[in-house]
Amino acid sequence: MASLVAPTDGSLEGVLVARTAIAHVDGLAGRALIRGYLLQELAERLPYEDVAFLVLHGELPSGSADRERFAASIRAGAELTEHDRSIARSLREGRSEADALSAAMVLAEDATARAAPVAERCARVLGRVPSVVAAVAGFAPPPAQWSYARRSLAALGANRLDDASLRALEVLLNLESEHGLSASTFACRVAASAGANAGPSLSAACATLSGERHGGATAQARAMLEAAQAHGDPAAFVRAKHAAKERLPGFGHRVYKVADPRVPPLRAAMRAMGHAPLLETCEAVATAATPLFAPKGVHPNIDLYGAALLGTLGVDPSRYVAAFVLGIACGWLAHWAEVRAEGRLVRPDNEYSGPSQRALPGTVL
Ligand SMILES: CC(C)(COP(=O)(O)OP(=O)(O)OC[C@H]1O[C@@H](n2cnc3c(N)ncnc32)[C@H](O)[C@@H]1OP(=O)(O)O)[C@@H](O)C(=O)NCCC(=O)NCCS
Repeated sequence: MASLVAPTDGSLEGVLVARTAIAHVDGLAGRALIRGYLLQELAERLPYEDVAFLVLHGELPSGSADRERFAASIRAGAELTEHDRSIARSLREGRSEADALSAAMVLAEDATARAAPVAERCARVLGRVPSVVAAVAGFAPPPAQWSYARRSLAALGANRLDDASLRALEVLLNLESEHGLSASTFACRVAASAGANAGPSLSAACATLSGERHGGATAQARAMLEAAQAHGDPAAFVRAKHAAKERLPGFGHRVYKVADPRVPPLRAAMRAMGHAPLLETCEAVATAATPLFAPKGVHPNIDLYGAALLGTLGVDPSRYVAAFVLGIACGWLAHWAEVRAEGRLVRPDNEYSGPSQRALPGTVL
C-alpha cells in the first residue's frame, strides 16, 4: 500500500488528487491554461462553442466542418420534452434556484444522448443545459438554432439583449468554462469515477453550488455592490469594511494570490456595453480596496465583475448560480469524460478520530 499523507484539514488544499489534461491554474503566476491555451485569450477572442469544443476535444475546431458538426450535436440535444420541462419547473417550488437546478440537471441527459459516442453525448448534454436552466426559472425554451450565449442570455431572463451585452455574457461564460479542480468539478469527477451517467454527475457538481462558499459569492458581491451604491461613497464604504475587518465578497481566491487573470477580459467586454452604474461602482470599490487588501494577496476576482455584469443585464441574483452552471457545464463534461475513460473509482483514505473498539453493554471485549 502506498504511504499516506495526512492533509492538515478537510479542504484537501495542496493535496494532489487527480491528473488532468484539461486545465492548469497557476495561482502564483496568475495564469490559467486550458488545453495549453491562455484562458483569457480564448475568452477574448472566441465564441463559447469554440471554447467548449477545445475543452471537450482537447483541440480547437480545425475548420467549418468541425464547427458545424459540433453545433448540430448541441442543437440535437437542446430540446426538453414538455414533461421534463414541467418536472424542472415544479422543482423550483419551495426551493432555492440552486437546489432546484441541482436536481433538474439530471434532465440534461436522456436515453438518446446516453446511446451516443462520448464526444457526441457531451455535446448533446451541453446543448440541453440552457433549456434546463430556462425550465427551472419558468422561462420559455430558448430556440435551439440560437448561439449558446444567446440561449444563455434568454435562459437567465436578461433584459439587455444588444450585441455588446450578448458578447459580455459570452466572455463571462468563456471565463467560467473550465478552471481546474474547483469543488464542483471535483464532485463531478467523484460521481464519474463511480460510473455515473453525465446527467447525475452534473447534478453532483451543481449540488456544491448551493452552498455559499462556492456558488454564493457572486450574489453576495451583487448585494455588496448595491450597498456601496446606496452608501453613496464606495471608497468610504470599502474603508469602513476594512476597518471593521470584514471580508469583501468578490475579493480573494483560494488559488490566485495575485491579480485574477479573468478580470481584465471581462472588464473590457463590460466597458463596451456603455453606461452601467453597477460597473462604475464595481470599479470604484476595486480601486479603493486594492491598496488595502492586495498586500495580503487579496484582489478583485471574477465574481465581483460577474456580479456587476449580471446585475447590468438585469439578471436576478437568484439566478447567478445558473449563470455559472451555463459557463462551466462544458468543463464538468470534459472532466466526466476524462474520469470515465480512466475507469477507476475514487476511494481516498481517512484518519479515524472516533472511539477505539468498545464492548456493547452486557458483553466483554
Ligand atoms: C475565496 C476565499 C475563501 C479564499 O480564502 P483563503 O485563500 O483561504 O484566504 P484566507 O482565509 O487564509 O485569508 C488570508 C487573509 O486574507 C484576508 N482575506 C481573504 N479574503 C478576503 C476578502 N474577501 N476580503 C478581505 N480580506 C480577505 C483574510 O482576512 C486573511 O487576513 P489575515 O491574514 O489578516 O487574517 C476568501 O478570499 C473569501 O472568503 N473571499 C470572499 C468570497 C469570494 O469572493 N469567493 C469567491 C472566490 S472565486
